[in-house]
Amino acid sequence: MNNLFFFLLLAASIESPTAADGSANAYIYAGCSESRYAPGSPSQINVDSLLSSLVSASSSTPYSNLTSTAASASFPSFGLFQCRGDLQPSNCADCVRSAVSSISSLCPFAAGAAVQLDGCFLRYGNDSFVGEPDTSVLYKKCGASGGGGYGPDQIGIRDAALSALTGGGGNGGAGGYRVGAAGYVQAVAQCVGDQSASECDDCVAAAVGQVRAACGYAVSGDAYLGKCYARFWTAKGVEKTLKRTKVLTHKFLSSNDLLLY
Ligand SMILES: *[C@@H]1O[C@H](CO)[C@@H](O)[C@H](O)[C@H]1NC(C)=O
Ligand SMILES: *[C@@H]1O[C@H](CO)[C@@H](O)[C@H](O)[C@H]1NC(C)=O
Repeated sequence: MNNLFFFLLLAASIESPTAADGSANAYIYAGCSESRYAPGSPSQINVDSLLSSLVSASSSTPYSNLTSTAASASFPSFGLFQCRGDLQPSNCADCVRSAVSSISSLCPFAAGAAVQLDGCFLRYGNDSFVGEPDTSVLYKKCGASGGGGYGPDQIGIRDAALSALTGGGGNGGAGGYRVGAAGYVQAVAQCVGDQSASECDDCVAAAVGQVRAACGYAVSGDAYLGKCYARFWTAKGVEKTLKRTKVLTHKFLSSNDLLLY
């Protein structure tokens, strides 16, 4: 309980990072399963082996899913990582290493866990979540509100930037990294590489719907779903007010048993 509260505060205190200038290793959220394996068990060996294989793979590919049966085929551990599409391989590997180290300290012995850093997402579990679509909202945040608008046609400009992410019209295909821009607003979306092009479209459309609905006159908005996210932000200097960033949703729904920190 104390730990949960601590990590909620930790996530809420982080200012909205942007893909443009945020550190790739900046923490967004993490979740751990309630079920845990016994220290020293075959499950632990499988998980440890899986995580180190994911770190190794991340220096040569922005996405990979792996299965570990290193100690025992009876307790397989499934895992994947997805780096943001604009990261260099060395930054991807650095991010995944940092994600593994967050998971190890936040979720010791967890049968399943997920962590989202600014530049990468990593998830593992003993259930086969790989390849499944997942549009449940895990984390949603709006930046400071310009109350009534900080620029002419603010909503129209934001929506133009966001619409470049959806409908397959954006750049990137399956597991694609998509960017949009209009006026002073920029937007990005990223799917996890296990999604088909149409699953990615559906997920990004759902994420865009979440930020549109929630973040009216905000200078930024982020929605992280199970298998994708969409974010927008406003060029520095346009925002006039400094109201606190609002965290609207912060939970790992019961999908595969994970609790969000
Ligand atoms: C995952 O591991 C936990 C802890 O060992 C166990 O309780 C649970 O039944 C396992 N789930 C599956 C699908 O194997
Ligand atoms: C990666 O995921 C695909 C789709 O679920 C699956 O067929 C494949 O076996 C996985 N690869 C590994 C090494 O787990």
